[in-house]
Amino acid sequence: MSDSFDLIVIGAGPGGYVCAIRAAQLGMTVACVEKRATLGGTCLNIGCIPSKALLQSSETFAETAHGLADHGIVVGDVRLDLARMQARKAEVVAANVKGVEFLFGKNRITWLKGSARIATPGSVDVDGTTYGARHIVIATGSESIPLPGVAVDEQRIVTSTGGLELAAVPAHLVVIGGGYIGLELGSVWRRLGARVTVVEFLDRLVPGMDLEIGKTFQRVLGKQGMAFRLSTKVVGAETDAEGVTLRLQPAAGGEESTLRADVVLLAIGRRAHTAGLGLAEIGVATDARGRIEIDAHYATNVPGIYAIGDVVAGPMLAHKAEEEGVALAERLAGQAGHVNYEVIPGVVYTWPEVAAIGRTEEALKDAGIAYRVGKFPFTANGRARAMGMTEGFVKILADAATDRILGAHIIGPDAGTLIAELATAMEFGASAEDVARTCHAHPTLSEAVKEAALAVAGRALHI
Ligand code: FAD
Ligand code: NAI
Repeated sequence: MSDSFDLIVIGAGPGGYVCAIRAAQLGMTVACVEKRATLGGTCLNIGCIPSKALLQSSETFAETAHGLADHGIVVGDVRLDLARMQARKAEVVAANVKGVEFLFGKNRITWLKGSARIATPGSVDVDGTTYGARHIVIATGSESIPLPGVAVDEQRIVTSTGGLELAAVPAHLVVIGGGYIGLELGSVWRRLGARVTVVEFLDRLVPGMDLEIGKTFQRVLGKQGMAFRLSTKVVGAETDAEGVTLRLQPAAGGEESTLRADVVLLAIGRRAHTAGLGLAEIGVATDARGRIEIDAHYATNVPGIYAIGDVVAGPMLAHKAEEEGVALAERLAGQAGHVNYEVIPGVVYTWPEVAAIGRTEEALKDAGIAYRVGKFPFTANGRARAMGMTEGFVKILADAATDRILGAHIIGPDAGTLIAELATAMEFGASAEDVARTCHAHPTLSEAVKEAALAVAGRALHI
């Protein structure tokens, strides 16, 4: 056996690299195995960071092309240099992944380059070399779910990975799946000039989010020119030299129709990635969806082996993976690391943004919990008016008996930043009145949060 470590983490995404850093901070000797040429996992290389770089660039392009005249700013011909936009995205990614490498050096974490296979509960094989480990953490993330009959070639039919790399704006982009990826990347290419049609199996977008928000989201994206085919499934795809012909069918069955696309983006969800780890051989249990089964402390059924992030149950979000990485490292060091799964925000970084935390109205109804709703529209917020961004609203759901905040949902400008206040409030067990009585600076978008909290008690001031 080669070197031995207190901890070997497999996978250097936000779950794995953060776990490695926290464990090193707590005095453990740590190695992290990563097969990709750079650290940072899906998030930094082909996920959160490149998609946000393109969202930012495309938003700036669309605002410059269409949004400035209203402000009295006259610009000439606005042209797109997609090659430069893609190069900028690559630079943003490179800076971020190098940042993780720097942090590994700073924390004396050994990067074992290659593919890991768990040889025994106490040892990991990396491309033929075996390393010892007191603890092993699996943080191998997720991959796109394939759709039978729709063969991905990453040119004409792409996953998010190819969808971030297109060298030309497609005339017609058809997105399969109206979730996070479909709406974010659909927005990018729509803003850059593509006609975009989203085909969604369910009768609504972003399932799992509050239904009222979902409906408003669809209306707003529709106004931006996105078309939707809801309650529709894709049953086949034929690629030719010019594009793709998709065969569609109503979700409930019935007559087929066809839809022609220049590029198809397949975004119907992601699944746990465990290939090559040797889980079956060492007896690590997985569930029906291939996710590694863990207990409340991230332990698998095999002593000494743990799992976190996208490879286990829960929302597939970078910050959820990070929190789990920290909590697990602290547990391994004898501390009391913990994640509050009731308070994990979710944000769709379109424009306007959509942000959610805690329970939806539908979930509260299903659970039979009596609640009160406070809502405040951005049309009544002075700062939103000054910005010319009045689309959307803040919605706070509070327990009818105790006034404790149970959920919050925002569609509007900077919703992803605004939700942080409500995350903090919920983490501290705040009531809507606590937020309502907190002084918020004027004129800020955050006043809409205060007003929604006031509205829970029927006493909003500006509406
Ligand atoms: P990953 O980031 O997937 O990392 C796992 C790593 O393990 C990979 O680098 C992989 O190469 C490595 N690996 C796998 N098997 C082995 C092996 N056997 N040996 C060695 N290495 C191995 N989340 C957000 O919160 N906000 C966003 O804005 C956001 N945007 C996204 C946009 C897109 C297009 C996509 C696809 C995802 C996005 N996500 C976002 C989700 C986010 O990327 C994931 O939730 C997050 O990356 C999960 O982290 P992880 O550490 O569990 O796994
Ligand atoms: P998703 O789960 O967000 O959305 C998938 C959508 O596809 C759903 O609306 C679902 O009903 C639909 N669908 C499923 N099967 C279908 C079919 N056969 N035909 C048509 N529609 C179908 O998954 P997505 O967008 O692929 O993203 C994967 C995950 O990555 C997200 O759930 C999220 O956890 C993460 N992510 C997070 C982002 C963020 O935080 N901003 C951005 C991008 C991804």
